[in-house]
Amino acid sequence: DAPVRVALLGCGVVGSQVARILLEQADDLRARVGRPLELVGIGVRRTTDRPGIDPALFTTDVPSLVAREDVDLVIELIGGINPARELLLAAIQGGKSVVTANKALLAQHGAEIYDAAAAADVDVYYEAAVAGAIPIIRPLRESLVGDAVTAVKGIVNGTTNYILDQMHTHKVSFSDALADAQRLGYAEADPTADIEGHDAAAKAAILASLAFHTRVTLDDVACEGISSVTADDVRAAESLRCVIKLLAQCSVSPDGTVAVGVHPTMVPLEHPLAGIRGAYNAVFIESVNAGRLMFMGPGAGGSPTASAVLGDVVTAARNRVRGVAGHGESAYSTPGITDPSSV
Ligand code: HSE
Repeated sequence: DAPVRVALLGCGVVGSQVARILLEQADDLRARVGRPLELVGIGVRRTTDRPGIDPALFTTDVPSLVAREDVDLVIELIGGINPARELLLAAIQGGKSVVTANKALLAQHGAEIYDAAAAADVDVYYEAAVAGAIPIIRPLRESLVGDAVTAVKGIVNGTTNYILDQMHTHKVSFSDALADAQRLGYAEADPTADIEGHDAAAKAAILASLAFHTRVTLDDVACEGISSVTADDVRAAESLRCVIKLLAQCSVSPDGTVAVGVHPTMVPLEHPLAGIRGAYNAVFIESVNAGRLMFMGPGAGGSPTASAVLGDVVTAARNRVRGVAGHGESAYSTPGITDPSSV
């Protein structure tokens, strides 16, 4: 059977793990898709040797890789707005299925990407964009789509949870904990996005859009990071039997007003979110019929995030083999009313 041909854009912390899994677990993936998944090229800014990866796969001419006629599926793990946006739109317009982990792009230009995908009748999957390995996009997009979600809240940035946890548990300084988070592959290329809360805000915008069937962008999210949290703040929280966590909170009121915010918050020790350690994330969903659900797991890092990417790759490849696009469940249906000031 003809393989499903895959182009990978980006070979950093997550991309290199995706390449590894595509190569090492090729037999399992073939069995799950029903056709081989063939990695035909890896687009990078600079070519360097990566152990276990054929150097001939690398190219710095990323637009030409995306434009290749024989490429069926594009995995975008470059991050940031440009050139990721142009490359994704080119892939979609070329009829390729798309898998991305790019939360910043989806939180700012999601409407453009989803509309382009609907017009071209191709898939866009982005489970890895929010909370690393935790399945949270599919539950909102598919499992709970027949319910009415009223709130989504939790910890959606691994780097800041790791830093706060280290400050509380091991009395490590903010800067040392950040350096560890970078070394462990949790932080963004520019960790400002993590510590100022922008990464969590982008994820909150994506979650709120799906949960409330509306359009929430990064600009709609009231956002405060953890850069000003000091060792004194940590001690003060502990004296009140609390820990400081960076929480994302998304809610919709009965009149349809959506509020989305990210703020450092004092969490009582007995609350389940207080026990979320290291780079783990946790998300609570409240809905009218299901009630309360909690999702928890590794929220950052190469292998966990690659796990979510590969789930999307197999799903999109299966759709291609069957000749269907699964994008039909649009991210939103009606423009929403947002009121960030109410958080
Ligand atoms: N820098 C992000 C985090 C990576 O720390 O959560 C996962 O999106």
